[in-house]
Amino acid sequence: MILVTGGAGFIGANFVLDWLAGSDEPVLNLDALTYAGNLESLASLTGDARHVFVKGDIGDRALLDRLFAEHRPRAVVHFAAESHVDRSIHGPAAFIKTNVEGTFTLLEATRSFWSALDAPAKAAFRFHHVSTDEVYGSLSKTDAPFTETDTYEPNSPYSASKAASDHLVRAWHHTYGLPVVTTNCSNNYGPYHFPEKLIPLMIVNALAGKPLPVYGDGQQVRDWLYVKDHASAIRAVLAGGRPGEVYNIGGWNEKPNIEIVHTVCALLDEMRPDPAGSYSRLITYVTDRPGHDRRYAIDARKVERELGWRPAETFDTGIRKTVRWYLDNAGWVEHVQSGAYREWVDTNYSARAA
Ligand code: NAD
Ligand code: DAU
Repeated sequence: MILVTGGAGFIGANFVLDWLAGSDEPVLNLDALTYAGNLESLASLTGDARHVFVKGDIGDRALLDRLFAEHRPRAVVHFAAESHVDRSIHGPAAFIKTNVEGTFTLLEATRSFWSALDAPAKAAFRFHHVSTDEVYGSLSKTDAPFTETDTYEPNSPYSASKAASDHLVRAWHHTYGLPVVTTNCSNNYGPYHFPEKLIPLMIVNALAGKPLPVYGDGQQVRDWLYVKDHASAIRAVLAGGRPGEVYNIGGWNEKPNIEIVHTVCALLDEMRPDPAGSYSRLITYVTDRPGHDRRYAIDARKVERELGWRPAETFDTGIRKTVRWYLDNAGWVEHVQSGAYREWVDTNYSARAA
């Protein structure tokens, strides 16, 4: 069995669904079900004995020790985190608690379990840390994409907390020999993405006839990867990655934000035309994100060279599937737009002048 943390979140849920679609190896899914965790994303696994869900915190050492002792996983795939940059600006404490202290507690519980294994099981064990390209900081237009040896220059409370967790994972390998692998991935998009992030927010707001808030000049660049491609990259690195190594994962799909928003509008115009006119009429430029990173781009040649991984989707195919998914899953979208969601929208957007 593998232990997945944060498996009810966006990428974690996609990973669990993808894993169990291709393997009968059970998943122990530990998730605290914060605002971002949603068991409805895993509804298709109801009654499936291969999926064992435990509601709990990665910072709860006693719970972790019990889970390791009972289930004896052969690997940990660590997704659990606070993941939204804007939330980290409004309230950084939760990011330190989960991303730094939580990862520390998980590493210690893993080390304690792993140390007592016999030599072959010890060698086969993996701790896979799922991290982000944001730890490398911001690129200018002409800089080369991030490689695994780039220096860490995190700029937001979120990326600083992820950078700290990456350093802990590295140190637990270097000092204690824990067989870790780390992946630093670019921006994901796809089904089950919480509508606080750019692409699902634009889809959900457009369908509701609300403004589409573009920060600053909209020329910030992100490198987009379809979430199922991230899941396949993690499987490849978990299976064949070398302990202690870092692998950058990306989609070779650099796009400015404003282009993403226009693409979403054009797809909605085609799939759900609005008699009032193109959805692009709703685009509204608003006050920029403080400390906003200008450009991220990933050099994913190492994972291709060593493990033969490449993304299967282009941006054109992935974004079309994504918009279709949101149109076909209005119930999921409606359920995540709770009072707490509306409060967040108010906190983040009401003070941004158009
Ligand atoms: P998400 O916010 O959608 O999901 C996070 C999940 O972690 C939620 O289910 C939440 O309930 C759970 N969680 C939070 N705190 C917890 C705690 N203390 N104990 C147990 N569970 C807890 O995030 P996501 O977008 O799916 O990202 C998953 C991971 O991938 C994160 O580590 C993130 O840094 C990383 N990442 C995300 C992206 C992206 O584009 N979304 C890109 C690269 C890397
Ligand atoms: O690069 C990987 C990272 O990608 C992950 O580590 C993070 O967990 C994930 O949230 C994401 O971070 P970003 O800040 O890049 O994603 P977000 O969807 O919040 O924003 C994407 C871009 O769109 C960014 O330049 C900010 C801009 N934006 C975002 C929102 C929510 C807007 O212009 N308007 C918005 O309303």
